[in-house]
Amino acid sequence: MVEVLKAMEQRSSTRGFTEEKLTKDELDSLLQAGLQAPTAANKQEVHITVVDGSNPILTEIEATKNRQRGVEDSSDNFYYNAPVVLLLSASKSFRWSSVDAGIAVENIALAAEGLGLGSLIIGSVKDALCGEDREYFETALKFPEGHEFKIAIAVGHKAVSKEPHDYNMSENVTYL
Ligand SMILES: Cc1cc2nc3c(=O)[nH]c(=O)nc-3n(C[C@H](O)[C@H](O)[C@H](O)COP(=O)(O)O)c2cc1C
Repeated sequence: MVEVLKAMEQRSSTRGFTEEKLTKDELDSLLQAGLQAPTAANKQEVHITVVDGSNPILTEIEATKNRQRGVEDSSDNFYYNAPVVLLLSASKSFRWSSVDAGIAVENIALAAEGLGLGSLIIGSVKDALCGEDREYFETALKFPEGHEFKIAIAVGHKAVSKEPHDYNMSENVTYL
């Protein structure tokens, strides 16, 4: 496991994965990283649904997204054929649940990087999962009662590489 600062420095979005599956240890490490994330008031309400890349529910989500957007099936699906997709759901009513899910998903992304894996945080399916088919997907994805989709992350072995993004320290930081 590389140091956490190194993992942050190195991480970038992966939009292309090999067919290699994750080991159980790798998957367990990712889940632990997500569940070890801090939550407001230590509520620990973030739930993770683990979906194998071959599960047809992913194709249904992709089709719903494309239908909503009025686009034909695109050449890439939203998870870029990753071997596993983690869907994070959290309370519909707790005011910090989106922040909590965001922190958890970044923990998972950094853990993936530390394990030498690639990851892609995915928000593009939010409208599909929170739209008119919401109840169907919440049941199919076994979200706990009172939960809604917050964010997803695809994880696998990198088939492509991308440089980490640049940032502008002077524009995005103010010292008082
Ligand atoms: C909340 C959130 C939602 C995102 N949703 C998507 C997505 O649906 N599809 C996608 O390809 N990338 C998505 N990304 C990845 C961003 O596009 C990416 O982080 C950004 O372009 C910076 O690139 P980097 O991750 O390589 O540093 C998302 C990132 C975040 C934080």
